[in-house]
Amino acid sequence: MFQRIVVGYDDSPGARAALRMALELAAVHHSALTVVAVEEHLPHYGPVVGDIEDERSVGEAACRRWLGIAAATAERRGIAVRAEIRSGQAARELATSAVEYAADLLILGRSGHSGIWGRFIGSTAEKAARHAACSVLVAYDDDGQSNHG
Ligand SMILES: Nc1ncnc2c1ncn2[C@@H]1O[C@H](COP(=O)(O)OP(=O)(O)OP(=O)(O)O)[C@@H](O)[C@H]1O
Ligand SMILES: [Mg+2]
Repeated sequence: MFQRIVVGYDDSPGARAALRMALELAAVHHSALTVVAVEEHLPHYGPVVGDIEDERSVGEAACRRWLGIAAATAERRGIAVRAEIRSGQAARELATSAVEYAADLLILGRSGHSGIWGRFIGSTAEKAARHAACSVLVAYDDDGQSNHG
């Protein structure tokens, strides 16, 4: 079990929880671990037609930074990781990369936003989980929970 793990990493509190769990599991199961960051160029339209919310698109520089942080975290735990930047729709790319790496576990984080009932599953994680062809773990960020009440 858990021979190959893929973790989606965007350096959000949820993604950090996902990476922590991925590293724990990889240490126990001697899993091959791949960290994936998805560059999204798809325009996210704002309330006014033609209004592009730029802050929602993810560039390559951000992905490189995220993967650098993830690799450094893994190195501190003495665990080797492969890092990959993919381009496209995040949910689809995460589900597809799990298939390409023949992963038996995909790990994602909870949304960084806190809702009325506490944390919820973000749209990327929800969509990726629905399309994934393997087991999916949505990591809960306990530290973040206390910060957000
Ligand atoms: N661009 C990305 N690259 C890699 N992993 C991602 C990316 N976006 C999301 N993820 C993964 O999905 C998890 C949840 O993020 P998600 O985008 O679903 O939440 P959100 O950004 O708070 O909500 P929303 O996108 O719906 O506003 C993250 O913790 C991470 O594991
Ligand atoms: Mg998101």
